Amino acid sequence: MAAETQLGANNLEAYFMPFTANRLFKANPRLLASAKGMHYTSTDGRRILDGTAGLWCVNAGHGRRRIVEAIQAQAREMDYAPSFQMSHPLTFELAARLATILPGDLDHVFFTNSGSESVDTALKIALAYHRSQGNPGRIKLIGRERGYHGVGFGGMSVGGIGPNRQQFGNLLGHVDHLPHTHAPDHNAFSRGQPQWGAHLADALEDRVALHGAETIACVIVEPMAGSTGVLVPPVGYLRRLREICDRHGIVLIFDEVITGFGRLGASFACEHFGVQADIITCAKGLTNAAVPMGAVAVRKHIYDSLMDREDSGIELFHGYTYSGHPLACAAALATLEIYREDDLFARAAEIAPDWEQAVHGLRDHPHVIDIRNIGMVAGIELEPRPGQPAARAYDVFLKCYEKGLLTRTTGDVIALSPPLVIERSEIDQLVAIIGESLREVA
Ligand SMILES: Cc1ncc(COP(=O)(O)O)c(C=O)c1O
Repeated sequence: MAAETQLGANNLEAYFMPFTANRLFKANPRLLASAKGMHYTSTDGRRILDGTAGLWCVNAGHGRRRIVEAIQAQAREMDYAPSFQMSHPLTFELAARLATILPGDLDHVFFTNSGSESVDTALKIALAYHRSQGNPGRIKLIGRERGYHGVGFGGMSVGGIGPNRQQFGNLLGHVDHLPHTHAPDHNAFSRGQPQWGAHLADALEDRVALHGAETIACVIVEPMAGSTGVLVPPVGYLRRLREICDRHGIVLIFDEVITGFGRLGASFACEHFGVQADIITCAKGLTNAAVPMGAVAVRKHIYDSLMDREDSGIELFHGYTYSGHPLACAAALATLEIYREDDLFARAAEIAPDWEQAVHGLRDHPHVIDIRNIGMVAGIELEPRPGQPAARAYDVFLKCYEKGLLTRTTGDVIALSPPLVIERSEIDQLVAIIGESLREVA
């Protein structure tokens, strides 16, 4: 029996899908059945080139044997160990391994199960850090317009994507936002980092003047904003944020859920941009997405401050049942081994110029009003159809899928982030399919 005929309308009804137009999807479902290397296979038997590494997460390509075998072996050995007041050796091994690739003295690692949990954990650590320093008045969290930091109440509140907030009424108090850095009038069709806009970081000085530094706990930004449509930081912008945070004792958090593990051609964006964050969040590429896992890395002075107390009690009242789950640790250790053995971050840096050249080749195609890229990421922005925001890009997404390519759209931006193992011929194929699709949509 064909897979589709097993799937009656009733079978699709029960599942309440995340960030999906449920009714539209269920009328015309797109289901994936298997994955290997650069390709998915759909339930109707078609090969689909993965232009998005799943959801920005399968950096080493699909179905890596070493990861599969590590998960299988761990499942046989020990399925689960309690994470509070108990642990198991792989958590310590993984944290120590991560510390070797984390930039600077980001040497202490807290485990979570997702990017959203990593963000809420990071915000809580920033607040707890200031309390441990005798500064309980530092409670304000500063995010940025158009930022995406997952869907927990903390991440949603510091996040700056309208629809992700508007359905839920009032969010956390004591939150403010910096302006976003998207400036098409100055920076359209920039290759890599745009030249204009470092001064946009000075808005943080304005927030300090408004609220008082003594009330501000942290600033959280994505070093390269992915989910809002690929916004690459202007040259000098992140460094300026760092300087202002230093001046005022503000904790700087980089949300590296997308940029971590090679996406920009370096281990983390901190390394790529040469700017040290105080806390970084990650997830996605940590396990090559084979088992859900996230992590928060904190600098030594933050960890030491939390540990420096007279009593021998719990230092941080926070954690998850599945923090450092054995299967996730096994998957992450195997993943880090692949990254090292294949030198995958360096490979991403090496093919990034070809990627840039190829995606900018779409510049003169219909509807294209901007193309942005950095590392192995690109955003192609389309002119919206009058009165129908996001509809044109969604049609391109559907066309590409029909033609055997998985893309992602956010608003009127086609966001691309293939596994870092993509071959040059596959880059050409990906760009050709997008080009055809752009010509075919109204
Ligand atoms: C920068 C950033 N932070 C947080 C998240 C949330 O991660 P998750 O969906 O694993 O909760 C994402 C997801 O795309 C992200 O891009």
